[in-house]
Amino acid sequence: MLVSENFNLKKYNTLGIDATTRWFAAFESEEELLVLLDKPEIREKFHVLGEGSNVLFCNAFDGAILHNRIPGFAATSEGSNVFLTLGGGYKWHSAVERSVASNYYGIENLALIPGSAGAAPVQNIGAYGVEIKDVLYSARGFNLKTAKFETLSNADCRFGYRDSIFKTELRGCFVITQITLLLSTEKKIRADYSALQNYFEKVGTLPQSAQDIFDAVCAIRRSKLPDPREIGNAGSFFKNPVLSREQAEVLLNQFADLPNYAVDSTHVKIPAAYLIERAGFKGAVREKNGRRVGVHARQALVLVNTLNATGEMVLELAEEIRAKVHELFGVLLEMEVSVVGY
Ligand code: FAD
Ligand code: EPU
Repeated sequence: MLVSENFNLKKYNTLGIDATTRWFAAFESEEELLVLLDKPEIREKFHVLGEGSNVLFCNAFDGAILHNRIPGFAATSEGSNVFLTLGGGYKWHSAVERSVASNYYGIENLALIPGSAGAAPVQNIGAYGVEIKDVLYSARGFNLKTAKFETLSNADCRFGYRDSIFKTELRGCFVITQITLLLSTEKKIRADYSALQNYFEKVGTLPQSAQDIFDAVCAIRRSKLPDPREIGNAGSFFKNPVLSREQAEVLLNQFADLPNYAVDSTHVKIPAAYLIERAGFKGAVREKNGRRVGVHARQALVLVNTLNATGEMVLELAEEIRAKVHELFGVLLEMEVSVVGY
């Protein structure tokens, strides 16, 4: 267990924001978490941090950052079912890699998503046709409302697109310490997502295994998303908007090439990146006092810290984008990242 005062968080967020926290405390077990939560200076105001790949530190945080480092990767089988239990601090991509190497099916489409296993259910991570809700069996953690460890089933988590109970009712009061996934040794390939279909058409083969999907997803992602080790970013900064069918039709009459995906019979999801690009922000750069922030030149949904940007500069650019997109398209973008210290 580690507790430090006035700690710098630059290495603990993929946007690379140079921010500080009053307290920084790391825990490697549920017992250590309880010891930390017993300390008044931590319990009073804290924020749980995994790998910091979906967080924007805005100013100095005057509370405690609780860093989840609980390890653990353990699989048990029942017939073709595999229950894979991961410690909350286990790196998500490493779990995917090991699972694929073991010939388990279920999370190969979620390769190369940065972050910890404990954070994965929070926004119901998703990519290339799969969301964690498709495989999550249960999530265990400490509920500060009941002061107990509880295990939530998949249904309890109330998953939605980039949403779950951990972002609503249990926001800020449930620390996920462990998740269990239900995977399978039965071959089940999900390659219907258009970018995957295009990839396999181009290479001229069909995917035969979880490994093939894993390799394809990694290749596609590397071709368009910046690597946070090279350019600070938090992946998609905004969620893709879900519109009523009527509102989407108004936009489609104006922009015939607007991609759109039916969510249900009355709702349609459209790419925020299309709106941001159309609003003229793709590749945009904003400078202030020798610092620089921008919009990635290959993916308009990704804001990038290109030179010592402050959290406030990132937020200002996000607000500028939101205002312009709203003015032009009547669509209010919602942030995907968690803003801390604002
Ligand atoms: P953090 O950023 O540390 O925290 C995120 C939120 O979860 C915070 O509100 C935090 O308080 C909360 N939280 C973290 N851990 C816990 C816990 N143990 N208990 C309770 N609350 C917790 N996301 C996708 O869905 N799909 C993608 O394809 C995708 N691609 C990405 C690509 C890049 C290059 C980057 C940088 C990010 C991408 N993301 C994607 C976003 C991000 O990787 C995920 O949201 C990831 O799950 C965040 O994990 P983390 O450990 O870094 O969480
Ligand atoms: N597009 C543009 N301009 C761009 C980029 C994309 O117009 O600069 C349009 C294209 O028409 C493209 C469409 O947007 O077909 C969708 O783009 P892409 O396939 O890159 O996906 P996305 O909608 O931008 C979402 C997730 C990603 C996830 C990918 C793959 C959200 C908010 N983002 O991105 O998740 O990896 O699909 O499934 O849902 C994340 O959440 O951090 C994240 C990276």
